[in-house]
Amino acid sequence: MDYKTTRTLLLVSGLLFATTTWANEDNLPLMILNSCIVCHGFQGSSLGPATPSIAGIDKEDFVETMEAYKNDEIPSTIMGRIAKGYTHADFQVMAKYFSKQTFVRYPQQVNLDKAKQGAVLHKEFCEKCHKNNGYSFGDEGASILAGQWMPYLRFNLADIRANVREIPKKMKKRLDKMLKIHGEESLEALINFYGSLTERK
Ligand code: HEC
Ligand code: HEC
Repeated sequence: MDYKTTRTLLLVSGLLFATTTWANEDNLPLMILNSCIVCHGFQGSSLGPATPSIAGIDKEDFVETMEAYKNDEIPSTIMGRIAKGYTHADFQVMAKYFSKQTFVRYPQQVNLDKAKQGAVLHKEFCEKCHKNNGYSFGDEGASILAGQWMPYLRFNLADIRANVREIPKKMKKRLDKMLKIHGEESLEALINFYGSLTERK
């Protein structure tokens, strides 16, 4: 066998090995380490600030989100491309892992006055679905907001407002109502509030 054939064979068998073992839970740390942790941090709590922490995410919502990235149904800078490299079974294995991790909240630079206003706004307009001040994952996949990276929340809310990121109609209604009554500053108040929450729970 010449050098070139050997090399190709090694490469192909390497790839086969990689794809056949990916959906196997025993090799999960490798899959996650290789492809997610670089950005989403060890055990899914990212070191920010533009990458969301995904620890504690609901299993079903995780799979739905990854499928939506894969099918270009959610706008993304990077996740669309990444998700295309995986199967539904891979997503299920990843979902099991990330849903079990604890969301680690890092201190962020916040304006405490704004955060205080945000706490009041949250109670009135967001708490219904993003429960426990946004510490808990709510019904219908309402994301964890407490301690999420503020720059990420800014991008995310900008996408939501530009209608490129779809959200439930009921949330849109609440958000619009808040903006109408309290103006644009209310968004920054909320972002500062979520950024100010650092409890481990
Ligand atoms: C190069 C950095 C990078 C890598 C690698 C990466 N992500 Fe992401 N991820 C992001 C960014 C940035 C976003 C925000 C959406 C966007 O702009 O793509 C995101 C968003 C997400 C979300 C949505 C979170 C939410 O609250 O809506 C999930 C779930 C996710 N990534 C899972 C994964 C998984 C699983 C892997 C490994 C297979 C992975 N990501 C690899 C950067 C990355
Ligand atoms: C009626 C329930 C409901 C209300 C009220 C609500 N949300 Fe949501 N929110 C959701 C659901 C469900 C999702 C997940 C949508 C998805 O993944 O497609 C979500 C997602 C989000 C996201 C996206 C997070 C991410 O990582 O992708 C942000 C930010 C957000 N909500 C902020 C808010 C704010 C701020 C308020 C208050 C003004 C609010 N929500 C009120 C249900 C709600």
